[in-house]
Amino acid sequence: MLEKIEATAAAIRAQGIETAAFGIIMGTGMGGLLDHVSIHKTIPYSALPHFPIPTVAYHEGQLHYGELSGQKVLLFQGRFHLYEGYDYFQITYPVRILAALEVDYLILSNAAGAINLNMNKGELMLLEDHINLQSGSPLALKNMDTLGERFVDMSAPYDKALAAAVIAIAEKNRLPLHRGVYAAVTGPQLETRAEYRYLKIIGADAVGMSTVPEVIVANQLKIKTLAISVLTDNCDPDDLKPINIPDIMAMAKEGERHLIVILKSLLAQL
Ligand code: HPA
Repeated sequence: MLEKIEATAAAIRAQGIETAAFGIIMGTGMGGLLDHVSIHKTIPYSALPHFPIPTVAYHEGQLHYGELSGQKVLLFQGRFHLYEGYDYFQITYPVRILAALEVDYLILSNAAGAINLNMNKGELMLLEDHINLQSGSPLALKNMDTLGERFVDMSAPYDKALAAAVIAIAEKNRLPLHRGVYAAVTGPQLETRAEYRYLKIIGADAVGMSTVPEVIVANQLKIKTLAISVLTDNCDPDDLKPINIPDIMAMAKEGERHLIVILKSLLAQL
């Protein structure tokens, strides 16, 4: 496994990309940040040895290297999810590549449903903690000792300084930013009313189908991590509407505008 990671990283270095301060993995349908990145190099995933093979949905799967607010960034456009049939090693492969390229920070975004009814679709939620309800762990692999420690501490998975900086930026720009607990489920089906009730009882503020595996691996590899959810639907079990994917996509775009403002100013000040 380690040889594969080294080979992928070497192929990236061979393209003239040595390192970057930030690794960024954006949520599905949230490519708008790219318009703000001055891109020096783009490599399709298919040109990277050992990189997970994109499905049709990932025809746009590519790694961009460039500058955002004066900082070097490596941005993965196109994320891998468990619900597409990828395994844990594959969905967290980009994080292992970022670690091999020695990034300092990882920024993740995702689309999530709002369990906490004080939060509204179209708004943002900073992840302060998470609950892993996906059936497994990206660290439950044979030979894990070749990749890093197995019993990874999860007492503070999200970097406190990055979170504090983001909170200050949101306040200064008067952007609504909630803070809460993200529950990761496997999906791809949405939740039943009973499941939304359960998620609320166990302490989740938002629910989605990604991010937590990447955060676990980032913690194993000691990368400082920030994650922000764009809330795309209100998950009120007592007034639940059938899922409306076009509306979810529209909300992701809506929330993304604020997310872009926050990330640009975060990178400018680090
Ligand atoms: N549940 C799970 N994942 C989601 C949701 C949801 O309600 N909304 C966006 N991603």
